Amino acid sequence: MVKICCIGAGYVGGPTMAVIALKCPEIEVAVVDISVPRINAWNSEQLPIYEPGLDDVVKQCRGRNLFFSTDVERHVCEADIVFVSVNTPTKTRGLGAGKAADLTYWESAARMIADVSKSSKIVVEKSTVPVKTAEAIEKILSHNSKGINFQILSNPEFLAEGTAIEDLFKPDRVLIGGRETPEGAKAVKTLKDVYAHWVPEDRIICTNLWSAELSKLAANAFLAQRISSVNAMSALCEATGADVTEVSHAVGKDTRIGSKFLNASVGFGGSCFQKDILNLVYICECNGLPEVAHYWKQVILMNDYQKTRFVNRVVASMFNTVANKKVAILGFAFKKDTGDTRETPAIDVCKGLLGDKAQLSIYDPQVSEDQIRKDLSMNKFDWDHPAHLQPSSPTAIKQLSVVWDAYEATKDAHAVCILTEWDEFRNLDYQKMFDNMQKPAFVFDGRNVVDAEKLRNIGFIVYSIGKPLDAWLKDMPAVA
Ligand code: UDX
Ligand code: UDX
Repeated sequence: MVKICCIGAGYVGGPTMAVIALKCPEIEVAVVDISVPRINAWNSEQLPIYEPGLDDVVKQCRGRNLFFSTDVERHVCEADIVFVSVNTPTKTRGLGAGKAADLTYWESAARMIADVSKSSKIVVEKSTVPVKTAEAIEKILSHNSKGINFQILSNPEFLAEGTAIEDLFKPDRVLIGGRETPEGAKAVKTLKDVYAHWVPEDRIICTNLWSAELSKLAANAFLAQRISSVNAMSALCEATGADVTEVSHAVGKDTRIGSKFLNASVGFGGSCFQKDILNLVYICECNGLPEVAHYWKQVILMNDYQKTRFVNRVVASMFNTVANKKVAILGFAFKKDTGDTRETPAIDVCKGLLGDKAQLSIYDPQVSEDQIRKDLSMNKFDWDHPAHLQPSSPTAIKQLSVVWDAYEATKDAHAVCILTEWDEFRNLDYQKMFDNMQKPAFVFDGRNVVDAEKLRNIGFIVYSIGKPLDAWLKDMPAVA
């Protein structure tokens, strides 16, 4: 019987291991983490992450062949395959600060694996890491191995939050990178056999280690690039009177381009896109490729521009000041169907509005007040350190309230900013909202979820990303 242990019970480790346990009943899967509250939550009725379908999968396997534990060393020692899915934050100081990945947690995981192992193991990179991390990890393992054989594989995860379970059940592909030696090939085969329980063989791609590592960074960079491209077009649409939704539709109909990931928005967020592109940029620079680095950097700069542009539009439309005006924020998560706020564009938009002294009233169906306050007081990149998972007393920001209802948030407000595309925002009673707001009443739709014409008929002044502007907005241009 194969035993699997996964270090890191986060958004990646938790759902991935739960699905492996479900699909491979004869394999024992232990998910371990240094965070006691996280493990306690995985063992409770209230899982630490919100993900449609996850509860059901966990309920079916927990206690049967799926276990959550803080006894990291014991489970690592007993396992045949060790997945590592710990944080890989962006470095905030020292060499490569603001760009390079900080591999502190990865390195200490590797040292611990070497320390506690008494039998040969396959060590699988599940966290996204810079290219050639496997080589460094291999060195740590082999220098401390006491004669034990470690095979390192790269098996990047492509699940997207909000659809993680679906993505894991039916992946477009599973990617496994390994050493091109007989032992490497054997390790690849072992992991392939795990996935082959439910993934068709032709969807399991085997490559060398570096291709697997780089493919993950490349996939995220390509996806983010599409969003920055359509967001760049959205600015031009607003300037010219074109409609970005129509442009996306027309462009996406070309089968060479495809229709997915062409929704203009207030900007992309999430734990991966920015971090992975920064990583890619840094790797290019280190390899003497400044032109390539510069090219990918633009994807992030365009995303920053889009968030700033949104804030400027809000402020400019409201007579160039939002000081002491109540502004309702609907949605704080980085996308719908998740409670995750890592790198959410809402953080930069809220900080921008707070900087202009607005009074914010925030509502998100899945994000807690504690989380929102923490996010708005945290320094850039600090979210990716395990310490932030521990309870702390969030800073009080006086200009801010967090409420549990969209109508409460918008009561007496001058403006509404929609920052996450939660389905419920499409069907709110906007007439009721309008009646209880200050006039003129504004809606700034950062996700193009509302029916702008319907809202205009109610009396709102409406801004939708990349759509022809209301006369009011044309008269109040944002000066960058
Ligand atoms: C993580 C990484 O953040 C990401 O870079 C990578 O691509 C995939 O793995 P995610 O699962 O979303 O993604 O992160 P997170 O929810 O923060 O989970 C990481 C977990 O590892 C945390 O629960 C943390 O407590 C744990 N951890 C971290 C350890 O158990 N040991 C450590 O030494 C460090
Ligand atoms: C992403 C990748 O999709 C996934 O393969 C990888 O494993 C991790 O990173 P995730 O960040 O969970 O997944 O969500 P994703 O659906 O990719 O959305 C990322 C951000 O882009 C969100 O803020 C989303 O709102 C935004 N987005 C997405 C757009 O603005 N427009 C789009 O058309 C699509």
